[in-house]
Amino acid sequence: MQELINRPRRLRMSPVLRDLVAEARIDAGMFVQPHFVVPGDGISEPIGAMPGIDHQSVDRLVDTVGRDLELGIRSVLLFGVPDETVKRPDGSAAAEKDNLVSTAVTALKDKFGEQLVVITDVCLCAYTDHGHCGLIVDGKVDNDSTLPHLAAMALSHARAGADVVAPSDMMDGRVGAIREMLDDNGLVDTAIMSYSVKYASGYYGPFREAAQSAPSSGDRRSHQMDTRNRREALIEAELDIDEGADILMVKPALAFLDVVADLREAFSQPLAVYNVSGEYSMVKAAAERGWIDERTVVLENLHAFRRAGADIIITYHGRHALAEAWL
Ligand code: PBG
Ligand code: ZN
Repeated sequence: MQELINRPRRLRMSPVLRDLVAEARIDAGMFVQPHFVVPGDGISEPIGAMPGIDHQSVDRLVDTVGRDLELGIRSVLLFGVPDETVKRPDGSAAAEKDNLVSTAVTALKDKFGEQLVVITDVCLCAYTDHGHCGLIVDGKVDNDSTLPHLAAMALSHARAGADVVAPSDMMDGRVGAIREMLDDNGLVDTAIMSYSVKYASGYYGPFREAAQSAPSSGDRRSHQMDTRNRREALIEAELDIDEGADILMVKPALAFLDVVADLREAFSQPLAVYNVSGEYSMVKAAAERGWIDERTVVLENLHAFRRAGADIIITYHGRHALAEAWL
């Protein structure tokens, strides 16, 4: 037998050596923790489909964010979950004075200031009575008449002190409409993280329970991307950059790592992945049954995001991973 000169196993012989040559590393500074904000006081209600994640009123949210900061999670992404009674065809409660998310932003910024980056989700689906992400005209989600409503929502969050607004609706031209609205109102330093590449995915199932934002009829396929498409992601991202997006995002994460790698290669903007609710709940459910080891699988997934080129990881796993000192 010919003698072996190259033995890749040499660099796998001890944990410390493996750490030394590891290609992908993650740290808490990359994590963004999503939160579901509800009206009221003193509320912290577990979300059935997302073990470990709660609906919280603003007062309890502030406590939770304070504890997360001690763990090292310094960025949050806020979703409003308003009462049914405020839902209207045009979702106008999303931008009203003292709306849920803006109230949460103000409370968090008052308490934590520059220690915390506050990002807000901008979409109408939790605020429309039909549950769609935009206005309905002739039975369809109408693009252009939705834009001013999204821009007004973003403006309200920015005025309350949000560092970053994150449109997730997938209307064409929304990044430009939001940028223009913010600039016209002197909010030139509020950044936009665009859900540039958001697929019409089955992995949002648990979230729609959490956000009570499922469409009452139909689906989101007329605006979210077809999961069969890869090249189209570059078209979406390029348009968002032209319109002023500061940060790009791919969502969901796990089934679309080819797209993450493509965007990393093609663009220099910071790149986020959204490790969505279904991806999270599948891991939690399988771990609860003892079918997988949670720590191993969570770290495998988080490193996969980094390996593919993500700079920012929006994930529901962060708190548990840090509290258990998995990193
Ligand atoms: C709303 C929105 C969704 C998610 C983030 N913003 C759901 C959807 O588009 O139906 C999904 C997040 C998750 O599943 O964790 N437009
Ligand atoms: Zn939506």
